[in-house]
Amino acid sequence: MDKDVKKKVLRQITYGMYVMTAKAGEELASGTVNWLSQASFNPPLIMVAVKGDSSLQPAVAKAKTFTVNVLSASQKQVAEDFFRPLKVEGNKMSGHSFRPGANGAPVLDEAYCHIECKVTDTIARGDHTVYVAEVTEVGQARDDKPLEMWHTGWFYGG
Ligand SMILES: Cc1cc2nc3c(=O)[nH]c(=O)nc-3n(C[C@H](O)[C@H](O)[C@H](O)COP(=O)(O)O)c2cc1C
Repeated sequence: MDKDVKKKVLRQITYGMYVMTAKAGEELASGTVNWLSQASFNPPLIMVAVKGDSSLQPAVAKAKTFTVNVLSASQKQVAEDFFRPLKVEGNKMSGHSFRPGANGAPVLDEAYCHIECKVTDTIARGDHTVYVAEVTEVGQARDDKPLEMWHTGWFYGG
């Protein structure tokens, strides 16, 4: 396989951009992710790949629950803020206010939709761990359009 073509071709897969959050004990964790998809209608499942050496990975492994905060097309800066190590100050995560969801994981107040999940399967392979998780609760604060990876000019993949 040609490595350069592999990189180029795998980068043609399209994605959204989401802030994933978890609460393990008293510890909060977060990260902006794009390797995420719905995986079943019934039961409603999603799958997400979490970087093995990230702070999110052990938190999700411990909590067995997480939340996907859906960003709107105008919230590229929010995505950027969650690439960096999390800073919790009062009720703010990296400068963004949050509240606890039904599963305990933080819901960002700015997220126009959120998806609460319970891990059903863990596939630890390669440098990311794939979590398959059941959707246990959803919320929609307003109508909006999602932030799409392609429009950000960023790449994570290849
Ligand atoms: C464009 C972009 C997309 C990313 N997508 C993912 C992803 O799908 N899964 C993931 O675990 N980390 C992803 N990351 C990395 C996380 O946002 C974050 O940088 C990483 O979890 C390190 O966080 P930590 O400092 O808290 O350990 C992505 C980073 C960038 C810049």
